[in-house]
Amino acid sequence: MIVSFDNVLTSEELAAMRRQLLDTDWERGISAGPQARLVKKNLQIPENSDVLRDLRILVMRALNRTPEVMSAIMPFKIIPPNFNRYTVDDSHYGRHIDSTVRPLPDGSYLRTDVSATLFLSDPDEYDGGELKITDTFGEQTIKLPAGSLVAYPSGSLHEVTPVTRGDRMGCYMFMQSLIRDTEKRRLLYEMDNALRRLRARQGEDQPELVELTGTYNNLVRLWSEC
Ligand code: NI
Repeated sequence: MIVSFDNVLTSEELAAMRRQLLDTDWERGISAGPQARLVKKNLQIPENSDVLRDLRILVMRALNRTPEVMSAIMPFKIIPPNFNRYTVDDSHYGRHIDSTVRPLPDGSYLRTDVSATLFLSDPDEYDGGELKITDTFGEQTIKLPAGSLVAYPSGSLHEVTPVTRGDRMGCYMFMQSLIRDTEKRRLLYEMDNALRRLRARQGEDQPELVELTGTYNNLVRLWSEC
């Protein structure tokens, strides 16, 4: 399931974040695994940067307050978000699959189930720089407004095509979901969405809605790993 969300950041947050990103130092990206490193050509913020710490807090706060994102991903663990920048000189990230197991700052590990990109440049600021993801329905081309997020299964082949004009900034994340299986995650997301709409229309106290919400929660109980 590839799913996108508009306005995950408010316009004030986006403006503040972009000011910091344009003001900070960037270095050649080195965070990929050995195979992905061969095809990775972009810029990143160094791990010891103070700006990086502040930006990470801002992104995590935005994710946590957005129930649709939480419902689609059901995050159990998340690697601190990183930022990347593609310019005409450091322009692309060739086809790869994100590495399966990644270390966390506390020394434990995370299995990557869901990868996500938060777009921080608007589509008219650059040419190229499309995120192409191959999923069960073929190749999808994604280029979203700044402040929007796309999430996709980490096991999907994907790439960022060469930037031929301008500057493409983004934030990328890897998450382990409570629900490992992509199809189960999709079913739960669809059910939760339908329940949310029903609740908005009918109120919280319909007995059938209470039962169905219970069923949703019991499916989460049955399928979740933590
Ligand atoms: Ni990737």
